[in-house]
Amino acid sequence: MVSLLENPLRVGLQQQGMPEPQIIIIFGASGDLTWRKLVPSLYKLRKERRIPPETTIVGVARRDWSHEYFREQMRKGMEEAHGGVHPEELWQDFSQGLFYCSGNTDNPEDYQKLNKLLNELDQKRGTRGNRMYYLSLSPNLFPEAIKQLGTAKMLEDPYKHRLVIEKPFGRDLASAKSLNAIVQKYCKENQVYRIDHYLGKDTVQNLLVFRFANAIFEPLWNRRFVDHVQITVAETVGVEDRAGYYESSGALRDMLQNHLMQLYCMTAMEVPNAMDAESIRTEKVKVLQATRLADVNNLDLSAIRGQYSAGWMKGKQVPGYRDEPGVQPGSTTPTFVAMKFVIDNWRWQGVPFYLRTGKRMPKKVSEISIHFREVPSRIFQSAAQQVNANVLAMRIQPNEGISLRFEVKMPGADFRTRSVDMDFSYGSFGIEATSDAYDRLFLDCMMGDQTLFTRGDEVEAAWQVVTPALSVWDAPSDPLLVPTYEAGTWEPIEAELLLNRDGRRWRRL
Ligand code: BG6
Repeated sequence: MVSLLENPLRVGLQQQGMPEPQIIIIFGASGDLTWRKLVPSLYKLRKERRIPPETTIVGVARRDWSHEYFREQMRKGMEEAHGGVHPEELWQDFSQGLFYCSGNTDNPEDYQKLNKLLNELDQKRGTRGNRMYYLSLSPNLFPEAIKQLGTAKMLEDPYKHRLVIEKPFGRDLASAKSLNAIVQKYCKENQVYRIDHYLGKDTVQNLLVFRFANAIFEPLWNRRFVDHVQITVAETVGVEDRAGYYESSGALRDMLQNHLMQLYCMTAMEVPNAMDAESIRTEKVKVLQATRLADVNNLDLSAIRGQYSAGWMKGKQVPGYRDEPGVQPGSTTPTFVAMKFVIDNWRWQGVPFYLRTGKRMPKKVSEISIHFREVPSRIFQSAAQQVNANVLAMRIQPNEGISLRFEVKMPGADFRTRSVDMDFSYGSFGIEATSDAYDRLFLDCMMGDQTLFTRGDEVEAAWQVVTPALSVWDAPSDPLLVPTYEAGTWEPIEAELLLNRDGRRWRRL
């Protein structure tokens, strides 16, 4: 077993051990995430024998539940989201390690009560004082929960106590800095695990392998060969029942500042000195620090937002965002955002990166595409024939894989050309690439590996990049003209123009 007393930063990505027994304390345990993702992921890890049987979970929330009721709720969740508990005997054993403690985030006595329960469980379950505090709370409660945990001395041991913070980390640069200040007051950075679940996806981790384990792409991965890069994360779902959160968040805060920025960093960063948390995160910070919106003085040339109006999805009529339950009738919250980034460094000078994400798009698809320059000589080009530039597409989800588009000669007498794709699909392994990711993230955190978690300066640097857009869109003087796009269609016309003005267009996916 890997001892938590080892320097956590030394436990690298390759480490295949089993973590020490520990208690995972989930704050906000009555929320969806706990039964949909967190407890099922821990059950999966237990089933795969990746975590020890002593692993204990304590749910914390305001509701007055008993341990038994919490267990029943988790079981129901497994049935609803994962088709049941298989095998039954293992669930019986696993669920004996589920406990519940009611409490209010701002009540110091509730932390004393929780601490007492944790000490008892240490004795009873052999968890040796190892604790992972997982904040799955409404983000406005993060500062208070951390202060209370710190004041109750529950974060004191830098090797035994870990703090996991769900996204979003802050809602702008100022709030992210102030949250970081609170975190740093009570914790060392090596105790802190800021979650971005995109980093837990195999296809996202594969970006590192693809780029740095293959010699042939590196010479092409720069301004000499790359014309531009596109990053798309499109979803078909609307706001669903999350208006309470989404209304104050929107596509920029919910997706672009975190998930798309991670895809962006992995694509644009330099090769790290080693495959460890510090080396990788340092390179990500460097690329973020060199990044800016293409034109900060004229936002329309570098940042576009949009909101879906009523439309059709799969033959069914769906309401516009403003008519969704819980949404203000005059809401200006964007459900789509597109940005054009430029990077002031040697590798990428002059190569634009276009990012877009939206809800109620025609397809669920996440992809990074590298668009190479056109050939310098157009000997095959004619009025009747278009020769396309090469495109390398990395499909994050679904249909995970990679394809390279290139031109070939069509059979026959003349030189007719055609674009074809050379394709690798993860499906060909016969093992699914994980897109859910929480199991991987839990395991890494239990092992003390921070590689797939965001560092404090990284999250601030990501906010810094989008600050010029936020400061205009959040201002009370904002003219409130948010472009719309019909549900079930791609981006608003303004986002088309973002590329068309540069003589480019979004890839049709
Ligand atoms: C979450 C966002 O972080 O990511 C959601 O809050 C979004 O709005 C989800 O739907 C998308 O995740 P995935 O893994 O399905 O692409």
